[in-house]
Amino acid sequence: MSASKGVLLLAVLLLIAAIGGRGETVPCKVKDAEQGKVCVCTADYCDYLENPTLTDDTEFALISSSKQGLRFATSHGHFGTEDTYTVQDYVEPVPEAKNKTIFSRLLDQALASAFTLESRESTITRFVTLKVNRSKTYQTMTGFGGSYTGAVSYLVDNFKQPELADHLYKSFYAEEGLGFNLMRISIGGCDFDLGAWAYAEEEDNTMLDGMDELDERDVMRVGHIKRLVEVSGIKNLRIKGAAWSAPPWMKTNNRWTGFGRLQKQYYQTWADYHLKWVKLMEDNGLPIWAISTGNEPLNGIFFMYFVKFMSMGWTPQTQAIWLNDHLGPTIRNSEFKDIILFGNDDQRYSFPHWFKMMNYTRPNSVDYLDGLSLHWYWDEIFGSSLIDETTEYAPDKLLIVSESCIGDKPWQRSAPVLGSWERAEKYTRAFLENIKHGFHAWIDWNIILDEEGGPNYVDNTVDAPVIANTTTNEEFYKQPMFYAMGHFSKLVPEGSIRVDAVPSNVNLDCVAFLRPDKKIAAVLFNSGRADTNITVVDSERGQFTVNVPAKSIHTLLYS
Ligand SMILES: *[C@@H]1O[C@H](CO)[C@@H](O)[C@H](O)[C@H]1NC(C)=O
Ligand SMILES: *[C@@H]1O[C@H](CO)[C@@H](O)[C@H](O)[C@H]1NC(C)=O
Ligand SMILES: *[C@@H]1O[C@H](CO)[C@@H](O)[C@H](O)[C@H]1NC(C)=O
Ligand SMILES: *[C@@H]1O[C@H](CO)[C@@H](O)[C@H](O)[C@H]1NC(C)=O
Ligand SMILES: *[C@@H]1O[C@H](CO)[C@@H](O)[C@H](O)[C@H]1NC(C)=O
Repeated sequence: MSASKGVLLLAVLLLIAAIGGRGETVPCKVKDAEQGKVCVCTADYCDYLENPTLTDDTEFALISSSKQGLRFATSHGHFGTEDTYTVQDYVEPVPEAKNKTIFSRLLDQALASAFTLESRESTITRFVTLKVNRSKTYQTMTGFGGSYTGAVSYLVDNFKQPELADHLYKSFYAEEGLGFNLMRISIGGCDFDLGAWAYAEEEDNTMLDGMDELDERDVMRVGHIKRLVEVSGIKNLRIKGAAWSAPPWMKTNNRWTGFGRLQKQYYQTWADYHLKWVKLMEDNGLPIWAISTGNEPLNGIFFMYFVKFMSMGWTPQTQAIWLNDHLGPTIRNSEFKDIILFGNDDQRYSFPHWFKMMNYTRPNSVDYLDGLSLHWYWDEIFGSSLIDETTEYAPDKLLIVSESCIGDKPWQRSAPVLGSWERAEKYTRAFLENIKHGFHAWIDWNIILDEEGGPNYVDNTVDAPVIANTTTNEEFYKQPMFYAMGHFSKLVPEGSIRVDAVPSNVNLDCVAFLRPDKKIAAVLFNSGRADTNITVVDSERGQFTVNVPAKSIHTLLYS
């Protein structure tokens, strides 16, 4: 336990803060689920972590989560300390006396994890040196977020207590939550809705009458998002919209799905529809930051036998014409000319070919695009060289992942796997890879789904970072994926610049950022089955060594 043994145990401070009522920090209420641990939130209890503060230039803070059960456990130490720090892994609590309060139980748990284990019984400790050089800089980050679909509105609306919804909102968007600043919403409906829908659905409504009023589904969704802004205290929520399909009467097949494209005669109407939607949202108190040229255009061209939900097909050629001759000029000549336009909004295999083909059809149509947005689903099969080719072809575009979730593949379970650390690791790997290849932002899919991974009107069910209990509608569960994303979003605010961070071997994967406040935030990922000594060497700050548990993710913060 003592420093003389060469091991400094990092104290678990967060519980003390919660009990003392000094901060907003509340520990995870751990529950054993099917494949690991989840954190339970109810109307009157939900875990939060107040962002760590540093008292001097040599201090560092480390936030840790692990397969074993750590969830945002915070510890502090100092650069220049010779002894190796140890992040103690989660220890299962001993069965508690029935008469104890939750706080006293959690306190026992903290004391148990801080003081009962002397040192790790392990002979296979690995080591790695991580060199951080803040003078070598890469992209500037825009941020992180999740999506507010019709499915999310529906689940939240069913909560028995409004406080539970507030906990959901704060968990993602408050500073003491994940600090998200981005959000994706559908223009009209999407598959995560109770049915297909759009504005101006009535046959031949070419004047788009009625689009100055919110659809009843959006009355609820907009109301929820405004509440989210209010309770989370977020200053600059950036909302990105995307349409899944035009109303059937504008399409070649007069259906929501299948092999259907936009009829040429409605190209301008569909551009006007987007502008009207942006104005509608603005008029209702939700300014729109960005829109895309449409969700997954290839679904309505190649994948209509698999995709049963709302979709509308585009080829790069037709999209170039629509963007160049209609949407681009309509937006740029409007009061909303500064809106960010994203292109493609589809899978990695279409990069960068899609944009080259667009430019071939309408030279410089790609100039209308401020950014390129990508869905991560096929990243494991299509390599990151496609991204490198894209950034080489179009170097000045904002690169954003605009959709991600697990359970979409035939070989994956298309439902939540409660407590799955493996899925958290998949997320972590994907975030690390794409950020290292230049991505500026990441927006995840549904912020909450039910136990089946829905509701989805065509049963295209998947996993989500938070799962609702729809038996009671009185609690929800934060999955390991929630914390995995948080290790990136929480301490990496908009405007942070990625800096060089090079590990000496494969025992560690990481990215580091220089934040606007000049502090360094680094995400450290030990995916191995052994604990690892990480020596952090900063070209300005010096060094320290910390031993982290097997299968753990960390965010390191220092000046
Ligand atoms: C709580 O339980 C302990 C034994 O576990 C007992 O000594 C104590 O008196 C009990 N306290 C109350 C308030 O019941
Ligand atoms: C890890 O650090 C501990 C404590 O300083 C030390 O005893 C051990 O030899 C180190 N192991 C490796 C593999 O670096
Ligand atoms: C850090 O990066 C800068 C800029 O690339 C380089 O000049 C400097 O030598 C690097 N420092 C170290 C310690 O590697
Ligand atoms: C787009 O096409 C034009 C005309 O063919 C060409 O001059 C330009 O270099 C192309 N731009 C890109 C980014 O390929
Ligand atoms: C939801 O709550 C009910 C009642 O407490 C419980 O029986 C059920 O196991 C919970 N569902 C999940 C997925 O934990």
